[in-house]
Amino acid sequence: MLRTHTCGELRKENVDQQVTLCGWVDKYRDHAGIVFIDLRDRYGKTQIKFNLEDSSDIQQLARGLRHEDVVRVTGEIVARPDDMINQKISTGEIEVRVSKLEILNKSLTPPFLLDAGDLPNEELRLKHRVVDLRRAELQESMMLRHRYTKLIRDYFDKHGFLDIETPILGRSTPEGARDYLVPSRVHEGSFYALPQSPQIFKQLLMCSGFDRYMQIARCFRDEDLRADRQPEFTQIDVEMTFVEQEDILNVIDGLIAETLKELKGIDHPMPLPRLTHAEAMERFGSDKPDMRFEMELTDLGEIAAACGFGVFSKTMESGGRVRGLVAPGAAEKYTRKMIDGLTAFVGDYGAKGLAFFRVKEEGLDSPIAKFFSEEHQQAIIEKMQAKPGDIIFCVADKNAITSAALAALRNRLGSELELFDPKDFSCLWIVEFPLLQYDDENKRWVAEHHPFCYPHPDDIELLETDPGKVRAQSYDLVVNGYEAASGSIRIHDPAIQQKIFDLLEISAEEAEQRFGFLLEGLRYGAPPHGGVALGLDRWVMLLCGYDNIRDVIAFPKTQKASDLLSGAPSNVDGKQLKELHIQLDLPD
Ligand code: AMO
Ligand code: AMP
Repeated sequence: MLRTHTCGELRKENVDQQVTLCGWVDKYRDHAGIVFIDLRDRYGKTQIKFNLEDSSDIQQLARGLRHEDVVRVTGEIVARPDDMINQKISTGEIEVRVSKLEILNKSLTPPFLLDAGDLPNEELRLKHRVVDLRRAELQESMMLRHRYTKLIRDYFDKHGFLDIETPILGRSTPEGARDYLVPSRVHEGSFYALPQSPQIFKQLLMCSGFDRYMQIARCFRDEDLRADRQPEFTQIDVEMTFVEQEDILNVIDGLIAETLKELKGIDHPMPLPRLTHAEAMERFGSDKPDMRFEMELTDLGEIAAACGFGVFSKTMESGGRVRGLVAPGAAEKYTRKMIDGLTAFVGDYGAKGLAFFRVKEEGLDSPIAKFFSEEHQQAIIEKMQAKPGDIIFCVADKNAITSAALAALRNRLGSELELFDPKDFSCLWIVEFPLLQYDDENKRWVAEHHPFCYPHPDDIELLETDPGKVRAQSYDLVVNGYEAASGSIRIHDPAIQQKIFDLLEISAEEAEQRFGFLLEGLRYGAPPHGGVALGLDRWVMLLCGYDNIRDVIAFPKTQKASDLLSGAPSNVDGKQLKELHIQLDLPD
C-alpha cells in the first residue's frame, strides 16, 4: 500500500507515530507562510501542516498545491493545541507534521469546489460527475447503498432465499411502460427488450421449484421521468411459493425492521399497519399517504347538500362530493394571498376552487360564510373536529378530484406547517387494490398492477358482473408518502388467467405472443406463488433523507434520460446500423 492509514482514522492515541497518507487536496490555506492543507479521502479529512523551517523543496511543492491535486505525505502526528481542535471532524484533535511530500498527480482547476456552499446547477455536476461524486453527501449515499444491499442479501440468505439472475436481453414484459429495445444482428428485424422487471422469469423460477427467489435486479423503463424515477433503476425482487399474502408481507416487514434498525437506529412498530386501498382513499385521498402526520379527509356531503352555498349543493345534486381537511393552527399563518396560492395549487389537480373557513370562537370566518346558517357552521366545525385558530379547506367535485386535490394539499400543508419530523419513518402496506381500472380514453379495462395478479377470493364472481369492484390480492408498501414496493399473489390457475385476459381484451393469440412462455410454464404444474419488488433507489433516497433519486445513483440520467457524463445516448456509425439492418427515418 502507498499509505499506512486513511484520512479518517488518526486520533490522539496516534500522536508521535510516523504515518503516510494519500488523498486529494480538499482545502489549502497559507497563514503567514505556514501552509495547511486538508487531505481528503472517502474515510474523512486530516489536516496536514507544512512549517517555515521545512526544506525549501517541500515548501515550494506545498505552495504549488491546489484543489483536487492527489498527494502522498509522510510525517509525524502531533496533537493540535487545545484552541485549534476541530470538533466537527473525527481527526480534529491531531494534525500531520510533514517530512515528505509527493505530488502523485496534479488536477486541472476543478469545474466547481466541493465545499463552496451553494452547489452549482445539477447539469454541471452531472457532466463532471467524477468530481461531484467526491462530495461528502454522495460518498455517504454510496456507502449507505452498499451497506443496504449487503444487509438485503444477508437477510434473504438467512431466510432461505436463492439469488438467481434473470436475463437482461429478453422479451417485452408486462409492467406497462415503454420498452427499451435492442436490435438483433443475427435475427434480422428482431429486437430484444430490456426487462421492465424480472416479473415473468421469477414466476417461471417458482414453476421450476426454486421456492424462494431474490435478486437485486436492474430494470429499464422508457417512461416520463420525475424526481423519484429513473429510466434504469434497481429493484429488490422477491418471489415465494406455497404462500399467502400475509407470508410475503411478514418477510418484508422483517427486512424493513432490520433495515431501519441497522441503518437508522429506528425501532419501527411491527408488523407494519395494513390499510385497504378503499380506506386509504377515503381517509387520505391517496394510495400512498404520508403517515408521519394525521390530517385526515372528512366527508361533508350531508351538510353540503343542505347548505345554501350553490357550489356545494349543486355538486351534491350531480353525484359529486364535498370533502375537506383541517389545517391546524393555520388561521394566523396563512394570508389571503397564500390561500390564493393554495387554490392555484389544487387547480393543478383538477379542483375548480378551494373553499376555506377560518375557525373562530364564534363560528366560521370566510367570504362564503354567509351561505351557511349558524347551525350549519357549527355542524361543519363539529364534523371536522376543528378548533379556533384552524383553517378548514374544502373541495367540491367528482370523488376522484376531491381525492387528488386534497391529498396533494394535505402533503403540502403537512410540510409547510411542519406537522412531522422529516427524519421520521412511517411505513404501511396498502392492500386490496382494485384489480382493474377503466381507461376512459380507450374505453377498456386495464390491469392496475399487471395482468397476473390473483383476484381476491371473495370477488371472483364479480369478474363476470362488476369487474370494477374486484379487489386484487395486491399490495404496495408506502414509506413517507412514496411507493417503496409493490407486489401481488399471482394467478396460477389457467382458467382464471384466461378470464382476466378476456376482460383486458387480450386475445388468445396476443396472450400467446406476448406471454406465451409464461402461460406454457403455468401449464406444467404451477404452484401457488406470489412476490413483491422494492425500489432500491427509492429506499436509499429515503434512508439518506433526500428527495432526488439521482443523489443515490452513482451515474444517473437526467429528466431527459441522458447521461451527461458519457454523452449517452449517442449517434452510431453507419456500419454499425447496417449490421443491425437498421435505417434511420429522422424528422427533418
Ligand atoms: P412495480 O412496477 O410497482 O412492480 O415496481 C416495483 C417498485 O420499483 C420502484 N420503481 C422505480 N424506481 C425508480 N425508477 C422507476 N422508474 C421505477 N419504477 C418502479 C418502485 C416500485 O414500487 N414486477 C412488479 C413487482 C411484483 O409484482 O413483484 C413490479 O415491477 O418503488
Ligand atoms: P365563486 O362562486 O366561483 O366565486 O367561488 C366562491 C368561493 O368558493 C371561492 O372561495 C372558491 O374558491 C370556492 N369554490 C368554487 N368552486 C369550488 C369547488 N369546486 N370546491 C370548493 N370550493 C369552491
